[in-house]
Amino acid sequence: MSEVLVIIPTYNEVESLPLILKRLFDAVRDIHVLVVDDNSPDGTGELAEGMSRDDPRIHVLHRTQKEGLGPAYLAGFAWAMERHYSHVVEMDADGSHAPEQLPRLLTAALGTKKPDLVIGARWLPGGQVKGWSKRRQLLSRGGNLYIRFALGMPLTDVTAGFRVYKVDFLKKMPLDRIESKGYGFQIEMTWKAWQRNARVHEVPTTFSERHIGTSKMSGSIIREAFVSVARWAINERLKPFLSGNTAQNVRRRRPERNRSNRSSKRT
Ligand code: GDD
Ligand code: MN
Repeated sequence: MSEVLVIIPTYNEVESLPLILKRLFDAVRDIHVLVVDDNSPDGTGELAEGMSRDDPRIHVLHRTQKEGLGPAYLAGFAWAMERHYSHVVEMDADGSHAPEQLPRLLTAALGTKKPDLVIGARWLPGGQVKGWSKRRQLLSRGGNLYIRFALGMPLTDVTAGFRVYKVDFLKKMPLDRIESKGYGFQIEMTWKAWQRNARVHEVPTTFSERHIGTSKMSGSIIREAFVSVARWAINERLKPFLSGNTAQNVRRRRPERNRSNRSSKRT
């Protein structure tokens, strides 16, 4: 598995990080990890640094300040692309994404269908969320419904943060034009991947709310995602007009745009 890199963004996860790394290596022994720390005041970066000195599987990227999940992952992708990795995994530090479920995601990612993106989906049959308030569940389910309605992707969990990307596919993505700072990053990456005809595969997973530390979710993260989705949806609907296509051209392009066979679900 040394060709797979697990990227773990951290901000104040000093208690969670050793636990998640232990669980990860118990689940997949020879996998590599990159901790991307935004100069956490609680010393997560120093802790990761120390762990990386004792364990060659662990690497650390120190960033100077908290800039959000999106820029942290983009820095991690750039780091992976400069090296020999074939796939990168996105995983939270707080234990919400169970490392024990990673082998199932990797089986899908490395399997014969060779998907560009595997999403660990919570709202598929077989997936679930443990420990979330009704409000947070509604936000996630409602958000995904809104995204499906606005952008027309037949996926169940576009905001999910437990994922596997093929590095060769990331190289084809316009990563320098990804704008989202917060969790909208997951939506933006999925949308831009979808627009580039990515093969996306959802695998049901269980998300368990953290027991240690606090979520970095905020009103501004929700607002950013909501507004961005509306903007992308409007752009998509205006595209035929902006590119000067006639109605006839638009009709002719339709069959190519049928992407229904590009997403598949595993149960
Ligand atoms: N480097 C860095 N910089 N890491 C960050 C930042 C940041 O600005 N903000 C959050 N993180 C890290 C956290 O330390 C954690 O490891 C991970 O990103 C997820 O953050 P949480 O704050 O625990 O997220 P959540 O539980 O509220 O949200 C989860 O669900 C969202 C909605 O489904 C995550 O899985 C999100 O990715 C997902 O979009
Ligand atoms: Mn969390």
